[in-house]
Amino acid sequence: MVSARSGGSDGPDGPAACPRRVGLAIMALSASGEGTMRLTGRVALITGTASGIGRAAALRFAAEGARVVAVDVAEANAETAEMVTERGGEAVAVRADVTVEAEVAAAFEAAEAAFGRLDVAFNNAGVMLEGDGDAASTAESVIDRTLAVNVKGVLHGCKHAVAAMRRAGGGSIINTASFVASVGAATPQIAYTASKGAVLSLTRELAVLHAREGIRVNALSPGPLRTELLMRLLNTDEKRRRRLVHVPMGRFGEADELAAAALFLASDDSSYMTGANLQVDGGLTAAYVTPE
Ligand SMILES: NC(=O)c1ccc[n+]([C@@H]2O[C@H](COP(=O)([O-])OP(=O)(O)OC[C@H]3O[C@@H](n4cnc5c(N)ncnc54)[C@H](O)[C@@H]3O)[C@@H](O)[C@H]2O)c1
Repeated sequence: MVSARSGGSDGPDGPAACPRRVGLAIMALSASGEGTMRLTGRVALITGTASGIGRAAALRFAAEGARVVAVDVAEANAETAEMVTERGGEAVAVRADVTVEAEVAAAFEAAEAAFGRLDVAFNNAGVMLEGDGDAASTAESVIDRTLAVNVKGVLHGCKHAVAAMRRAGGGSIINTASFVASVGAATPQIAYTASKGAVLSLTRELAVLHAREGIRVNALSPGPLRTELLMRLLNTDEKRRRRLVHVPMGRFGEADELAAAALFLASDDSSYMTGANLQVDGGLTAAYVTPE
């Protein structure tokens, strides 16, 4: 049976972090054979769930038995929770801006209030802003906003995840970085690149700090993906071709492929991994000359 309960407003004036609980029929997913139920009994909070990787991860984690707390600023986030419900899973949609610590704190509180614990935090929300170029041309406002979402937002998530995971006796934190943290590009987005480098270093340090508390912290570095974030920018065949020349597999990645990698890091399949940077990039960061 699928139940629905709405709580609060998702609008810009609504209270931050309003839970909207939708759905309770996880067993239907295992019956579909879609998942191997690697997250049964786990509670996962994911940010940036209104689209792209975050939405794909919400669906995949729920298919694997997780109860999901889907966090985003965008209205479309409610749809993600509804999609989980339609597929027989359980999700709570929470409106929160990851740059505002009080809203992130409220999202984690909502997770524990709804589901009693927190096992997985996937700090995935990120932006790549217009006007982000080279060091000479990028405006301070673009740098500030990029770092606020991509670095401060991830740190807020880590801070409240660590506190909740201490209460739960351990857990897995996954922070979304990017291939641009590892290789330079002559099509620069310097604020974005700097922000993703910071994600890698903060992930490494937190992994070392919390390893003996049973809290694992890993980074996930996607290659160029066929999601809204990048396709908005690569809006011509020529721009897309210019990028694909550098990808050995010769194609953009899909959000589902990143969700599968995030699932690996979230689950016990990666139980001896912490402080790692999992690169899921079609071979991009391994390449010098790509195939014709
Ligand atoms: N798409 C790519 O090619 C690519 C490559 C490498 C890394 N990444 C990273 O992957 C992550 C997800 O990207 P995506 O491709 O799914 O992008 P996307 O734009 O589809 O999704 C990003 C989500 O983050 C949300 N968000 C933005 N600012 C927020 C804020 N302040 N508070 C809460 N939510 C906020 C957006 O509303 C959106 O739903 C990002 O961190 C991005 O930098 C993407």
